[in-house]
Formats: sequence, structure tokens, C-alpha cells
Amino acid sequence: MTSLSQRGISRVWNVTHRSPGGPHKRQGFVLEPGHWQEFDPFLLMAEDWFQTGTFGDHPHRGMETVTVVLDGHLQHRDSHGGSGLLGPGDVQWMTAGRGVVHAEEPVPGETVHSLQLWLNLSRAQKTAEPRYQDLSGDRLPVRREEGAVVRVISGASGDVTADTLNHTPVTAVEFVLAAGAAVTQGLPGSYNGFIYVLEGSGQFGVDGTSGQQGQVLWLGPADGGADSEVSVRAERALRAVLFAGEPIREPVVAHGPFVMNSEQEIRQAFADYQAGKF
Ligand code: FE2
Repeated sequence: MTSLSQRGISRVWNVTHRSPGGPHKRQGFVLEPGHWQEFDPFLLMAEDWFQTGTFGDHPHRGMETVTVVLDGHLQHRDSHGGSGLLGPGDVQWMTAGRGVVHAEEPVPGETVHSLQLWLNLSRAQKTAEPRYQDLSGDRLPVRREEGAVVRVISGASGDVTADTLNHTPVTAVEFVLAAGAAVTQGLPGSYNGFIYVLEGSGQFGVDGTSGQQGQVLWLGPADGGADSEVSVRAERALRAVLFAGEPIREPVVAHGPFVMNSEQEIRQAFADYQAGKF
């Protein structure tokens, strides 16, 4: 008999949205920045509603961004000649590594609704070659159970595995469950993670903790085993995303879009950016 630890939910919070102004119509933090140890390997997750002129050319170094488009069409272009168009259901997994400059702009006239996760990289991976993976929503592998569809963005769900390349190991899935349906998601016991409810409501984890649209459920630790799982049961028709990843356990020094291990490395990032090395 294998020991499979059942995860509970250690904390639930509401995402508060506000209006930054101009073309940035609405923003809320699913994960507020600054909780580097608690959320490790995740740095932040923002939920945004925005129009052209919000996220023009800007740099990143030392981290990855994972962008999930929920509505509208997002154009992307970067300093390495890459470009793409993301629509509803599409995901972009960008490794900034040693540095990119990019623009993330809605198609003119549209308002994009998106989630953007900032994922940390270990010291050794902060200088990795920049990389883009455009994960087309209609090509993501899908696990189907009774009343449940699980779209696998990264890692695996059941025996369905995504071919998304990871530096920091991450399991990322989207659950779409009919009212009353239930599914379990396996995770390495070492991972930190969370569920964000996009629509509907349900019960989560071993204690059946309630969560509804606009709420974040932080996963409690596994009790020792190498493998764990978390249960998700829809009360009303449910749409939710789960992200979980291997903690990095290194110092985090973040300044705007640069996330390094020391102040010296942040100063170097600004110097390199200003010297046009991105
Ligand atoms: Fe960016």
C-alpha cells in the first residue's frame, strides 16, 4: 500500500480588484507580491483587464511569466524576434532567463482579461536562454472524467501529460466541472500550490473547504509522503485553475521586472538593460 497524502486547504482569501486607470481597466492580485517564502516558487499572480497602452515594451530577467488569456486577443512581440497572438484559452509560458524586452498588447479596440503568473527561477537558471512556448488552448492535452474536463497546461493530471518544458517543475491545470462532479489532482508532496476559482463554487481538499468565484485556496502541506493529491468537487458548475510547483528556497531580491538573488545582481540587471544587452 502506498501512502498518498491528501492535501487540505490552509488558507482562503478573496481577490480584491481595483481600477489602475487609463487603458488598465481592472487589476487584482491572486498572489500579492512580497510573500517570497510562503508562495515559493511563485512570485505573484495578477488578474488584469486591459487595453492597448498598458503593457508596452518592458524588460524581465531571472524569472518566467505564464500568461493565461481568458478573454480577448493578446499580441506579443519581443526583443528576440518572437511574436504571437493569444486568444481565449491560450497560454504563453515565457522564460525571461537572462533577459527579454517585450510588449504584451491587446488587439486594438479589445479588452483582454488575463491571468499572469510570475514564476521564480533558481540561481542556476536565472541566466538561461530566453524561451517562449505558445500553448494553444485547442492543443492542450485534456483529461476527461465523468462531468469533468481537466486541461493540462504543465505537468500531468492522471495519465495525461503536457509536453510543456519546465525549468522550475510546475503542475498547472484548468478544471471545468459540471455541478456535482468531482476529480482528484495528483501532486508531488514537496510542491507548494493554490487554486483560483474563476467561476462557480466547490469544495476543496480533504476537509471539503468551500471556495467560490474570486477566491484563492492555498494548499496545505502534504504529510510527509512523496506523492499527494487534492480533491476538487463542484457545487455549482466550476471553472478553476491550479498551479503548484517545487519551491526553490533561495533568497529573492525583486525590483520591478527583475527577480534575482542579490542587490548586486539587480544593479547588474539595470546596467545590462540600459546598455541594450537584452
Ligand atoms: Fe511582461
